[in-house]
Amino acid sequence: MYLLSITGNIAIIITLRMDRCLHTPMYLFLGNLTFLDMGYTSTTVPKLLSILLTEVKTIPLAGCLLQSYVFFLYTAECFLLAVMAYDRYVAICYPLRYFTIMNKGVCMLLIISSWIGGCQEPLVAAFLVISLPFCGSNVVNHFFCDIPPLLKLACVDTYRTQKAIFMLSALVILSTFLSTPVSYMYIVITILRIPSAEGQHKTFSTCTSHLTVVSLYYGTVIFMYVSPTARSSFNMNRIVAVVHSVINPTLNPMIYSLRNQDMKRALWKIFFKR
Ligand SMILES: *[C@@H]1O[C@H](CO)[C@@H](O)[C@H](O)[C@H]1NC(C)=O
Repeated sequence: MYLLSITGNIAIIITLRMDRCLHTPMYLFLGNLTFLDMGYTSTTVPKLLSILLTEVKTIPLAGCLLQSYVFFLYTAECFLLAVMAYDRYVAICYPLRYFTIMNKGVCMLLIISSWIGGCQEPLVAAFLVISLPFCGSNVVNHFFCDIPPLLKLACVDTYRTQKAIFMLSALVILSTFLSTPVSYMYIVITILRIPSAEGQHKTFSTCTSHLTVVSLYYGTVIFMYVSPTARSSFNMNRIVAVVHSVINPTLNPMIYSLRNQDMKRALWKIFFKR
């Protein structure tokens, strides 16, 4: 799965770079999303595999903190998905002004703010974790270092820290998620005004990949960090964490390359025609 996800994601990034027709805002966002997906999987999965295959079942503290930091960068993905929803809204509701509204400067600004915004919560969470005293067991009951299992190892009651991280996650997830239903409401209203069914279908087809990725993504992160039941069933939480770190990043490139005509054409041209 890891090789598949890395290959798929690298293929997407190469295609986006090489094909001139794909140098539009939507694909810049997609490139950044793909890059982030590779970051997730590459900080967690190789270490997990080495633990499963060898006798060495330890991780240095710095490695552990890095994993939990990068893993918490899921917030950057939330911001990017919100920006992509807005991008679809502009593309469909204002098609003639799309390239004026989404010009290079605006795209750059949206992407940089997503990255900066996405780096804040992990910073706060990592800071909260390292400021706790650790003196007892150092066995992480998880597949990799993530904040909730690390909090369980602290020798003080972490109820308030957990609650703070939970509130922060809920705030980021729910506020970025809002952008999707709002954008799609306007998109659907605009599409319903298109007279022909074929036109409606064609217009909406540019949104299906985004919509699929968003549903998969928020489904897992809401379960992992927001749903209260997830806190109690730790095993279920671990399964969802694997889905989130391995399956989602593998599916994203497939969803984008299989559901999107331009992407399919470009992939074909770059990898098979030569
Ligand atoms: C991410 O966005 C920036 C800014 O628009 C762009 O220059 C860069 O190529 C993107 N990254 C990828 C991997 O596509």
